[in-house]
Amino acid sequence: MRQLASHSEKGINRNSLPFKLYEKAKKFGTWDPRDIDFSQDKEDWESLTYAQREELMQLISQFYGAEESVTIDILPMISAISKVGYFEEEMYLTTFVFEEAKHADFFSLFLENIGVKGELGHIPIPAWHKLFHQILPETMDRLNHDQSPHALIDAAVTYNMFAEGVMAETGYYYFYECLKSINKMPGLLEGIGNIKRDESRHIGFGTFLIQRLISEDPSLYDYAIEKLNHLMGTIRVEFGEQRKFGAFDPTIDERLTQFGNKQYQARVDVLARAKNRKFEEIYNLSEKEVGVE
Ligand SMILES: [Fe+2]
Ligand SMILES: [Fe+2]
Repeated sequence: MRQLASHSEKGINRNSLPFKLYEKAKKFGTWDPRDIDFSQDKEDWESLTYAQREELMQLISQFYGAEESVTIDILPMISAISKVGYFEEEMYLTTFVFEEAKHADFFSLFLENIGVKGELGHIPIPAWHKLFHQILPETMDRLNHDQSPHALIDAAVTYNMFAEGVMAETGYYYFYECLKSINKMPGLLEGIGNIKRDESRHIGFGTFLIQRLISEDPSLYDYAIEKLNHLMGTIRVEFGEQRKFGAFDPTIDERLTQFGNKQYQARVDVLARAKNRKFEEIYNLSEKEVGVE
């Protein structure tokens, strides 16, 4: 018979990191895309050059599709975490899926407000398709029949460390660098700011999950790093080769690569810290220690 946390001596661990993430999500994850004023964005959109609009639309369509994909692909993770009996983690994940859905909602609403309709044929990047149509869904789907530590690490590295922690973070950097400097698209930037804060909790959850598994089996550190390095050496390199940005800033491509490298190093450093720590220590980490804003 299963044991419910609420009906056992254990109870809900309110000091655990996943519960603290859940508390933060209740407070900060409730922003509504409908409250954002896009009227200035519509005017700004008309004022951009054709090349600028094309470039921005390429990135926005990537984000919109990615948010839809991750909303779908987080479900096997929730089910796997429920099966292994991590209740505080599952409580947090209930907010995770809501937030991913809201991010897709935000991009849909933004496009509607600036008058872009119809199919988005702006993703001419094969690496994007490989990540969101093949690698991510396959890796997450495996959790439906395999909840082993290796399967959980593969999922958290691909979803949280790589797709969110390296690729999406690099995308936010582009939005800030290219739009903030010319003071345009305030509604888009406001939404991106909210999304970025939600995503810092998502990445924090993945970091925590991998750290907890490493604390139980230190050999999983090398396994996680190898997986991350593989994604960096394939998908990320392909992204860099296939993407041609520069309509706002001719130096942006180079700077995006540097920023992505920094994100990668930050993920590696934080995982390395789990190697000689005990499980209880990891479970009681503060949100800050896993990089949550
Ligand atoms: Fe998201
Ligand atoms: Fe996310």
